[in-house]
Amino acid sequence: MKSAQVGGQKIYPTTQGWGEEIEMLIKKIETALLDQISKEAHASNSYLAMASWCQVKGFRGAASFFLTQSEEERQHMLKLINFVNESGGQGIIPALQEPLAKYKSLVHAFEVAFEHEIATTKSIHELVDLTFSSKDYATFNFLQWYVAEQHEEESLFRSVLDLIHIAGDEQRNLLIVDNEIAKIRIKA
Ligand SMILES: [Fe+2]
Ligand SMILES: [Fe+2]
Repeated sequence: MKSAQVGGQKIYPTTQGWGEEIEMLIKKIETALLDQISKEAHASNSYLAMASWCQVKGFRGAASFFLTQSEEERQHMLKLINFVNESGGQGIIPALQEPLAKYKSLVHAFEVAFEHEIATTKSIHELVDLTFSSKDYATFNFLQWYVAEQHEEESLFRSVLDLIHIAGDEQRNLLIVDNEIAKIRIKA
């Protein structure tokens, strides 16, 4: 092999081969990217579970919000799979952990979702750190899209939580909130 492209970085072996240090670094970045694929898949499935719960409870706006969000997470996963495949690795499709099926309330579902987003942001930032310190600038550059996306998603979920908190617990208000949630998604 004349060169290898791992995590988007093109590297060349020396006369002694790749060298143990580079091999370990390549593996570490690839493992972290595969782990992120798994997290995006779990997020997609979790939002699908939330959409289903919302639909059963009659929150049509929130159900459609979560369904769209679930599709977005799937796109995040596909983007990562493509990147790993194009970089000489293989995107592995993970087994899925069963998401939470029941929520105490509408606000609870959105709180769990918001926690997911915060955990995802942390995980993306760790990936960015790893690629930067490894001088894998191609993967570092690829991940900038995810950094911006996480900023948007956190802000979107925060807006929904603010809306629910302002409306309070009254059932009548929740229906108005549910309508507003559908519109927030369109605006974002
Ligand atoms: Fe995502
Ligand atoms: Fe997300």
